[in-house]
Amino acid sequence: ADVREYDFTVGWVNRNPDGQHERRVMGINGQWPIPTIHATVGDQVVVNLKNELGDRPCSLHFHGLYQNGTTHMDGVAQSTQCPIPANSSFTYSFNVTQPGTYWYHSHVDGQYPDGLRGPLIVHDPENPYADQFDEELVLTLSDWYHDEMPGLISSFLSVTNPTGAEPVPNSALMNDTQNLQISVEPNKTYFIRIVNMAAFAAQYFWIEGHSFRIIEVDGVYHKPQEADMIYATAAQRYGILLTTKNYTNENFAIVGSMDQDLFDAVPEGLNPNVTSYLVYDNAAALPNATLVDEFKPFDDVLLEPTDELALFEEPTLSYTIDMKMDNLADGVNYAFFNDITFVRPKVPTLYTVMTSGNLSTDPTVYGVNTHPLVLEHNQVIELVLNNHDPGKHPFHLHGHDFQVLARSDDDSGDWDPEALRNGSVTFPSTPMRRDTVLVRPNGHFVIRFRSDNPGVWLFHCHIEWHVDSGLILTFVEAPLQLQQKLAGKIPDDHYDACRAQGMPYK
Ligand code: C2O
Repeated sequence: ADVREYDFTVGWVNRNPDGQHERRVMGINGQWPIPTIHATVGDQVVVNLKNELGDRPCSLHFHGLYQNGTTHMDGVAQSTQCPIPANSSFTYSFNVTQPGTYWYHSHVDGQYPDGLRGPLIVHDPENPYADQFDEELVLTLSDWYHDEMPGLISSFLSVTNPTGAEPVPNSALMNDTQNLQISVEPNKTYFIRIVNMAAFAAQYFWIEGHSFRIIEVDGVYHKPQEADMIYATAAQRYGILLTTKNYTNENFAIVGSMDQDLFDAVPEGLNPNVTSYLVYDNAAALPNATLVDEFKPFDDVLLEPTDELALFEEPTLSYTIDMKMDNLADGVNYAFFNDITFVRPKVPTLYTVMTSGNLSTDPTVYGVNTHPLVLEHNQVIELVLNNHDPGKHPFHLHGHDFQVLARSDDDSGDWDPEALRNGSVTFPSTPMRRDTVLVRPNGHFVIRFRSDNPGVWLFHCHIEWHVDSGLILTFVEAPLQLQQKLAGKIPDDHYDACRAQGMPYK
């Protein structure tokens, strides 16, 4: 195992990724797109971060990594650390134990869509598919806004927007650009790691004239499934094997198309598509993407993990979340889990765990508005999510992946446990696993995970607008075990960051 050390200075740079509008974006070491973090299973990753944004704090979260034993490196502002103040430094250090396709992004509310997000790839010397491909590529998808987030957020969360209509992106990007050309050779197989780093928009993704095999989902290997289109929500990843044609002198469009069902109103002139090209022949023309009138993506719930991990046993805790959007007395539209809209605690939840002794198992010490759920160690936890909103939402759990037991179609209403008893629904015996799952409009899902990772872990909608409007809850997992694990291990830069906010840490 190696130490992969990265020195990252975060600062502003100017870019015009869609060719329509130049703006400042958050770069790293003067670069944007920001660098990809590479590691191999077993490595230690060290990121020495310097915040030179000048006027605002930041943080980094390593999306999808378990951070087992290092929940204080999860990077979530006001949950696992105070955000890193301007003109100061902070070191992230953790071991990577999972292979696969991940990403990293700021976890200060509303911040990553301004550019502070990039891929994180964990290479696997034991990749079961290693002999099935010749080359590896990373392809990021994202939506893009011409305006900076702080201004967009204040108009989103205002009385002038009582319906909670989310700002619609100005364009879509692949690898932070458009019209990207990817040169390929005939008769070769490419392992393409697709990461959707969007603030909001899911994308349909396909490669004209080609089908592919899905083998990895959010870092979990799955048995190969042939597909010709996938649907990747914000924060989801797919690893696919693409075998090129034996012979051709044609080139093909690679298309990402933002799911416009997410948008309350589609602005005139919006181009929801981003096109890249699979280039077999430099001398041949680049084709126009053909329009699709019906999207038929592969249903991820049909996948089966290669390790055939069996359905977890009956849960010791099954928690049902009814989610909705609604207005509070201030006339602003917020998002609610069981009538609680999340508010960031002043003191990071992790530090409350560390300083509250035996009281740490009492959820009330964390404050009602963090929506704390205290979990015991090594239990099976079930989450039932009922979506009482006509929108689609991608839900992400920190510190874990989870089994997806059931997911409804649009408008099928709340989960009904009776359906399981009377056999009209059955849970798969080896459910697919991932860390971010879609719930459909006025539908539901049921997921399970094992509380085998003491820590403070958020569960939230990964649409950044809904992070801002409160669609978050906090798992405080095995707090007593966590106190023991982390005793004396939280480095000083954590407390420095909090002191900068006026907290009385010595
Ligand atoms: Cu991509 Cu709370 O995370």
